[in-house]
Amino acid sequence: HRKAAAHPDPTSVIKTLKDPIGLSYNNHSLKTWTFNKTLSNLIRKNILQFLDPERDISILKGTLKPGDIIHYVFDRHSTTNISENLYRLLPSVSPMKNQHHRRCAIVGNSGILLNSSCGSEIDAHDFVIRCNLAPVEEYSQDVGRQTNLVTMNPSVVQRAFQDLVSEEWKQRFLQRLQSLGGSVLWIPAFMAKGGEERVEWALRLILRHTVDVRTAFPSLRLLHAVRGYWLTNNVHIKRPTTGLLMYTMATRFCEEIHLYGFWPFPVDSHGKAVKYHYYDSLKYEYTSSSSPHTMPLEFRTLSTLHRQGALRLHTGSCG
Ligand code: CTP
Repeated sequence: HRKAAAHPDPTSVIKTLKDPIGLSYNNHSLKTWTFNKTLSNLIRKNILQFLDPERDISILKGTLKPGDIIHYVFDRHSTTNISENLYRLLPSVSPMKNQHHRRCAIVGNSGILLNSSCGSEIDAHDFVIRCNLAPVEEYSQDVGRQTNLVTMNPSVVQRAFQDLVSEEWKQRFLQRLQSLGGSVLWIPAFMAKGGEERVEWALRLILRHTVDVRTAFPSLRLLHAVRGYWLTNNVHIKRPTTGLLMYTMATRFCEEIHLYGFWPFPVDSHGKAVKYHYYDSLKYEYTSSSSPHTMPLEFRTLSTLHRQGALRLHTGSCG
Protein backbone atom coordinates (compact mmCIF):
# COMPACT_ATOMS: atom_id res chain seq x y z
CA HIS A 1 0.00 0.00 0.00
CA ARG A 2 3.00 2.29 -0.01
CA LYS A 3 3.91 4.03 -3.19
CA ALA A 4 6.85 6.28 -3.79
CA ALA A 5 5.23 9.70 -3.82
CA ALA A 6 6.37 12.25 -6.34
CA HIS A 7 8.18 15.09 -4.60
CA PRO A 8 5.31 17.21 -3.41
CA ASP A 9 5.12 20.90 -3.97
CA PRO A 10 4.37 21.97 -0.38
CA THR A 11 1.90 24.69 -1.30
CA SER A 12 -0.18 22.48 -3.58
CA VAL A 13 -0.21 19.71 -0.97
CA ILE A 14 -1.42 22.09 1.70
CA LYS A 15 -4.22 23.20 -0.63
CA THR A 16 -5.34 19.70 -1.59
CA LEU A 17 -5.44 18.65 2.03
CA LYS A 18 -7.90 21.51 2.61
CA ASP A 19 -7.81 21.83 6.35
CA PRO A 20 -4.78 19.64 6.96
CA ILE A 21 -4.56 20.15 10.65
CA GLY A 22 -8.17 20.36 11.58
CA LEU A 23 -10.14 23.55 12.12
CA SER A 24 -8.48 25.82 14.66
CA TYR A 25 -5.62 23.55 15.64
CA ASN A 26 -2.63 25.83 15.99
CA ASN A 27 0.15 26.76 18.37
CA HIS A 28 -2.14 29.01 20.30
CA SER A 29 -4.44 26.14 21.21
CA LEU A 30 -1.38 24.13 22.23
CA LYS A 31 -0.40 26.72 24.78
CA THR A 32 -3.83 27.02 26.30
CA TRP A 33 -4.48 23.29 26.60
CA THR A 34 -6.03 22.10 29.83
CA PHE A 35 -6.85 18.52 30.73
CA ASN A 36 -10.57 17.67 30.63
CA LYS A 37 -10.87 14.91 33.19
CA THR A 38 -14.63 14.55 32.81
CA LEU A 39 -14.39 13.99 29.06
CA SER A 40 -11.44 11.67 29.43
CA ASN A 41 -13.37 9.55 31.96
CA LEU A 42 -16.37 9.47 29.65
CA ILE A 43 -14.26 8.29 26.71
CA ARG A 44 -12.75 5.52 28.86
CA LYS A 45 -16.23 4.41 29.91
CA ASN A 46 -17.52 4.39 26.32
CA ILE A 47 -14.51 2.47 25.02
CA LEU A 48 -15.01 -0.12 27.73
CA GLN A 49 -18.39 -0.91 26.20
CA PHE A 50 -16.59 -2.12 23.08
CA LEU A 51 -13.41 -3.63 24.43
CA ASP A 52 -11.50 -4.17 27.62
CA PRO A 53 -7.94 -3.20 26.73
CA GLU A 54 -6.61 -4.99 29.80
CA ARG A 55 -8.03 -8.24 28.46
CA ASP A 56 -7.83 -7.63 24.72
CA ILE A 57 -4.21 -6.50 24.70
CA SER A 58 -3.24 -10.17 24.48
CA ILE A 59 -4.54 -13.66 24.03
CA LEU A 60 -3.75 -15.61 27.19
CA LYS A 61 -2.16 -19.01 27.51
CA GLY A 62 -5.14 -20.90 28.86
CA THR A 63 -7.33 -20.06 25.89
CA LEU A 64 -5.29 -21.77 23.14
CA LYS A 65 -2.95 -24.69 22.60
CA PRO A 66 -0.15 -25.36 20.12
CA GLY A 67 -1.51 -26.39 16.73
CA ASP A 68 -4.77 -24.46 17.08
CA ILE A 69 -5.93 -22.79 13.90
CA ILE A 70 -6.43 -19.03 13.76
CA HIS A 71 -8.12 -17.06 10.98
CA TYR A 72 -6.42 -13.79 10.13
CA VAL A 73 -8.45 -10.72 10.92
CA PHE A 74 -8.02 -9.09 7.50
CA ASP A 75 -7.58 -12.20 5.37
CA ARG A 76 -10.33 -14.27 6.84
CA HIS A 77 -9.95 -17.14 4.40
CA SER A 78 -6.33 -17.65 5.38
CA THR A 79 -5.27 -19.37 8.54
CA THR A 80 -2.20 -19.92 10.64
CA ASN A 81 -1.36 -22.35 13.42
CA ILE A 82 -0.30 -21.53 16.94
CA SER A 83 3.35 -22.58 16.99
CA GLU A 84 5.10 -24.09 20.02
CA ASN A 85 7.19 -20.92 20.35
CA LEU A 86 4.22 -18.62 20.18
CA TYR A 87 2.43 -20.71 22.77
CA ARG A 88 5.43 -20.52 25.07
CA LEU A 89 5.46 -16.75 24.77
CA LEU A 90 1.76 -16.19 25.37
CA PRO A 91 1.31 -14.44 28.72
CA SER A 92 -0.59 -16.22 31.49
CA VAL A 93 -2.04 -12.96 32.80
CA SER A 94 -2.52 -9.66 31.01
CA PRO A 95 0.78 -7.77 30.88
CA MET A 96 -1.23 -4.63 31.69
CA LYS A 97 -3.11 -6.12 34.61
CA ASN A 98 -3.76 -3.52 37.30
CA GLN A 99 -1.56 -0.96 35.59
CA HIS A 100 -2.64 2.62 36.04
CA HIS A 101 -0.50 5.59 35.16
CA ARG A 102 -1.02 9.28 35.59
CA ARG A 103 0.70 10.59 32.47
CA CYS A 104 1.39 8.46 29.40
CA ALA A 105 3.14 9.33 26.15
CA ILE A 106 2.36 7.61 22.88
CA VAL A 107 5.09 8.21 20.35
CA GLY A 108 4.10 7.97 16.68
CA ASN A 109 6.79 7.76 14.04
CA SER A 110 6.34 10.96 12.02
CA GLY A 111 9.37 12.96 10.91
CA ILE A 112 7.78 15.92 12.73
CA LEU A 113 9.80 14.71 15.73
CA LEU A 114 13.11 15.53 14.06
CA ASN A 115 14.75 18.58 15.68
CA SER A 116 11.89 18.76 18.18
CA SER A 117 14.11 18.31 21.26
CA CYS A 118 11.16 16.47 22.82
CA GLY A 119 13.27 13.58 24.16
CA SER A 120 13.45 14.54 27.81
CA GLU A 121 9.83 15.70 27.88
CA ILE A 122 8.73 12.32 26.48
CA ASP A 123 10.91 10.43 28.95
CA ALA A 124 9.36 12.32 31.86
CA HIS A 125 6.05 10.47 31.39
CA ASP A 126 5.11 7.60 33.70
CA PHE A 127 4.53 5.19 30.83
CA VAL A 128 5.84 5.47 27.27
CA ILE A 129 4.38 3.60 24.30
CA ARG A 130 6.28 3.39 21.02
CA CYS A 131 5.42 1.93 17.63
CA ASN A 132 7.06 -0.65 15.39
CA LEU A 133 10.40 -0.92 17.16
CA ALA A 134 11.35 2.55 15.96
CA PRO A 135 14.97 3.29 16.84
CA VAL A 136 15.60 5.54 19.84
CA GLU A 137 19.34 5.63 20.58
CA GLU A 138 20.43 7.74 17.61
CA TYR A 139 17.39 10.03 17.97
CA SER A 140 17.07 10.22 21.74
CA GLN A 141 17.41 14.01 21.84
CA ASP A 142 14.16 14.25 19.86
CA VAL A 143 12.27 11.08 20.78
CA GLY A 144 13.62 10.02 24.19
CA ARG A 145 14.60 6.54 25.28
CA GLN A 146 12.11 5.29 27.83
CA THR A 147 9.95 2.48 26.49
CA ASN A 148 7.37 0.60 28.50
CA LEU A 149 5.44 -0.87 25.61
CA VAL A 150 6.47 -1.17 22.00
CA THR A 151 4.61 -2.63 19.05
CA MET A 152 6.05 -4.76 16.28
CA ASN A 153 4.14 -5.40 13.09
CA PRO A 154 5.63 -8.53 11.46
CA SER A 155 6.57 -6.37 8.45
CA VAL A 156 9.09 -4.50 10.63
CA VAL A 157 11.42 -7.50 10.47
CA GLN A 158 11.55 -7.04 6.73
CA ARG A 159 11.52 -3.25 6.49
CA ALA A 160 13.88 -2.34 9.29
CA PHE A 161 15.95 -5.51 9.62
CA GLN A 162 16.26 -6.81 6.05
CA ASP A 163 14.43 -10.06 6.86
CA LEU A 164 17.49 -11.04 8.95
CA VAL A 165 19.30 -12.05 5.76
CA SER A 166 22.74 -11.94 7.33
CA GLU A 167 24.31 -12.53 10.72
CA GLU A 168 24.81 -8.78 11.01
CA TRP A 169 21.07 -8.05 10.60
CA LYS A 170 20.22 -10.81 13.04
CA GLN A 171 22.55 -9.23 15.58
CA ARG A 172 21.05 -5.79 15.02
CA PHE A 173 17.56 -7.14 15.54
CA LEU A 174 18.61 -9.05 18.63
CA GLN A 175 20.28 -5.96 20.07
CA ARG A 176 17.12 -3.93 19.51
CA LEU A 177 15.09 -6.58 21.33
CA GLN A 178 17.63 -6.78 24.14
CA SER A 179 17.53 -3.02 24.58
CA LEU A 180 13.85 -3.24 25.51
CA GLY A 181 14.67 -4.35 29.05
CA GLY A 182 11.41 -5.64 30.50
CA SER A 183 8.98 -3.72 28.26
CA VAL A 184 5.86 -5.18 26.79
CA LEU A 185 6.46 -6.24 23.17
CA TRP A 186 3.11 -6.16 21.42
CA ILE A 187 3.02 -8.26 18.25
CA PRO A 188 -0.12 -8.19 16.10
CA ALA A 189 0.61 -11.62 14.65
CA PHE A 190 -2.89 -12.48 13.44
CA MET A 191 -3.91 -9.37 11.55
CA ALA A 192 -2.79 -10.06 8.00
CA LYS A 193 -1.30 -13.14 6.38
CA GLY A 194 2.29 -13.18 5.24
CA GLY A 195 4.07 -12.45 8.49
CA GLU A 196 4.20 -15.92 10.05
CA GLU A 197 7.84 -16.62 9.34
CA ARG A 198 8.93 -13.20 10.55
CA VAL A 199 7.05 -13.57 13.80
CA GLU A 200 8.56 -17.02 14.25
CA TRP A 201 12.11 -15.73 13.72
CA ALA A 202 11.55 -13.02 16.33
CA LEU A 203 10.09 -15.48 18.84
CA ARG A 204 12.94 -17.93 18.30
CA LEU A 205 15.50 -15.19 19.04
CA ILE A 206 13.62 -14.11 22.16
CA LEU A 207 13.52 -17.66 23.49
CA ARG A 208 17.04 -18.66 22.51
CA HIS A 209 18.63 -15.56 24.03
CA THR A 210 16.16 -15.23 26.91
CA VAL A 211 15.42 -11.66 25.90
CA ASP A 212 13.80 -9.74 28.74
CA VAL A 213 10.48 -8.67 27.18
CA ARG A 214 6.88 -9.41 28.05
CA THR A 215 5.32 -10.53 24.78
CA ALA A 216 1.67 -9.81 23.99
CA PHE A 217 -0.37 -10.96 21.00
CA PRO A 218 -3.58 -8.98 20.53
CA SER A 219 -6.82 -10.84 20.50
CA LEU A 220 -8.79 -11.15 17.30
CA ARG A 221 -11.64 -9.10 18.63
CA LEU A 222 -9.48 -6.05 19.32
CA LEU A 223 -9.46 -4.61 15.80
CA HIS A 224 -13.19 -4.98 15.28
CA ALA A 225 -13.95 -3.53 18.68
CA VAL A 226 -11.73 -0.50 18.13
CA ARG A 227 -13.27 0.12 14.71
CA GLY A 228 -16.71 -0.31 16.23
CA TYR A 229 -16.03 2.27 18.91
CA TRP A 230 -14.85 4.88 16.42
CA LEU A 231 -17.68 4.08 13.99
CA THR A 232 -20.30 4.83 16.63
CA ASN A 233 -18.55 8.16 17.04
CA ASN A 234 -18.93 8.74 13.32
CA VAL A 235 -15.27 8.24 12.55
CA HIS A 236 -15.28 5.87 9.60
CA ILE A 237 -11.87 4.28 9.78
CA LYS A 238 -10.96 1.54 7.30
CA ARG A 239 -8.26 0.00 9.43
CA PRO A 240 -7.10 1.79 12.56
CA THR A 241 -3.40 2.59 12.61
CA THR A 242 -1.15 1.26 15.34
CA GLY A 243 -1.12 4.79 16.77
CA LEU A 244 -4.91 4.96 17.07
CA LEU A 245 -5.03 1.43 18.50
CA MET A 246 -2.54 2.49 21.15
CA TYR A 247 -4.50 5.61 22.05
CA THR A 248 -7.75 3.62 22.29
CA MET A 249 -6.12 1.05 24.57
CA ALA A 250 -4.21 3.59 26.63
CA THR A 251 -7.44 5.25 27.74
CA ARG A 252 -7.85 2.24 30.02
CA PHE A 253 -4.47 2.54 31.73
CA CYS A 254 -3.67 6.22 31.59
CA GLU A 255 -5.17 9.31 33.05
CA GLU A 256 -3.58 11.98 30.84
CA ILE A 257 -2.49 10.92 27.35
CA HIS A 258 0.09 12.87 25.37
CA LEU A 259 0.75 12.11 21.71
CA TYR A 260 4.03 12.89 19.99
CA GLY A 261 5.07 12.11 16.42
CA PHE A 262 1.54 12.08 15.02
CA TRP A 263 1.65 14.11 11.81
CA PRO A 264 0.34 12.31 8.72
CA PHE A 265 1.14 15.15 6.33
CA PRO A 266 4.06 15.71 3.97
CA VAL A 267 4.61 19.30 5.13
CA ASP A 268 4.44 21.10 8.47
CA SER A 269 2.20 24.08 9.24
CA HIS A 270 4.80 26.39 7.66
CA GLY A 271 4.95 24.34 4.45
CA LYS A 272 8.30 22.73 5.25
CA ALA A 273 8.74 19.09 4.14
CA VAL A 274 8.19 16.45 6.84
CA LYS A 275 9.42 12.85 6.48
CA TYR A 276 6.92 10.04 6.92
CA HIS A 277 9.18 8.40 9.50
CA TYR A 278 11.80 10.17 11.59
CA TYR A 279 14.26 7.31 11.05
CA ASP A 280 14.03 6.15 7.43
CA SER A 281 13.22 7.37 3.95
CA LEU A 282 9.97 5.52 3.43
CA LYS A 283 7.39 7.47 1.42
CA TYR A 284 3.69 7.29 2.08
CA GLU A 285 0.63 8.56 0.27
CA TYR A 286 -1.51 9.71 3.13
CA THR A 287 -4.61 10.29 1.06
CA SER A 288 -4.34 7.38 -1.39
CA SER A 289 -7.56 5.39 -1.61
CA SER A 290 -5.55 2.16 -1.85
CA SER A 291 -3.98 2.76 1.56
CA PRO A 292 -5.52 0.64 4.33
CA HIS A 293 -5.43 3.63 6.67
CA THR A 294 -7.24 6.92 6.83
CA MET A 295 -4.57 8.79 8.72
CA PRO A 296 -5.64 12.39 8.01
CA LEU A 297 -9.16 11.50 9.24
CA GLU A 298 -7.68 9.92 12.37
CA PHE A 299 -5.61 13.03 12.90
CA ARG A 300 -8.61 15.32 12.56
CA THR A 301 -10.36 13.21 15.18
CA LEU A 302 -7.38 13.37 17.51
CA SER A 303 -7.08 17.12 17.05
CA THR A 304 -10.74 17.56 17.94
CA LEU A 305 -10.09 15.58 21.12
CA HIS A 306 -7.03 17.75 21.72
CA ARG A 307 -9.13 20.91 21.48
CA GLN A 308 -11.61 19.41 23.92
CA GLY A 309 -8.82 18.57 26.35
CA ALA A 310 -9.30 14.78 26.25
CA LEU A 311 -5.73 14.21 25.02
CA ARG A 312 -2.81 16.41 24.14
CA LEU A 313 -1.17 16.41 20.72
CA HIS A 314 2.38 17.73 20.63
CA THR A 315 3.36 18.73 17.14
CA GLY A 316 5.82 21.53 17.72
CA SER A 317 9.23 21.59 19.30
CA CYS A 318 9.59 21.13 23.03
CA GLY A 319 12.50 23.47 23.66
N1 CTP B 1 2.00 8.29 12.40
C1 CTP B 1 1.55 9.57 12.10
N2 CTP B 1 2.15 10.29 11.12
C2 CTP B 1 3.18 9.78 10.42
C3 CTP B 1 3.65 8.48 10.70
C4 CTP B 1 3.04 7.75 11.70
O1 CTP B 1 0.60 10.04 12.71
N3 CTP B 1 3.77 10.53 9.49
C5 CTP B 1 1.39 7.54 13.52
C6 CTP B 1 0.32 6.55 13.03
O2 CTP B 1 -0.71 6.52 14.01
C7 CTP B 1 1.08 5.23 13.02
C8 CTP B 1 2.06 5.40 14.16
O3 CTP B 1 2.41 6.79 14.15
O4 CTP B 1 0.27 4.12 13.24
C9 CTP B 1 3.30 4.54 14.01
O5 CTP B 1 3.89 4.78 12.76
P1 CTP B 1 4.28 3.61 11.76
O6 CTP B 1 5.20 2.68 12.44
O7 CTP B 1 4.67 4.20 10.48
O8 CTP B 1 2.90 2.90 11.53
P2 CTP B 1 2.51 2.06 10.24
O9 CTP B 1 3.71 1.53 9.56
O10 CTP B 1 1.57 2.85 9.42
O11 CTP B 1 1.90 0.85 10.91
P3 CTP B 1 0.39 0.52 11.01
O12 CTP B 1 -0.01 0.17 9.61
O13 CTP B 1 0.37 -0.62 11.92
O14 CTP B 1 -0.28 1.72 11.58
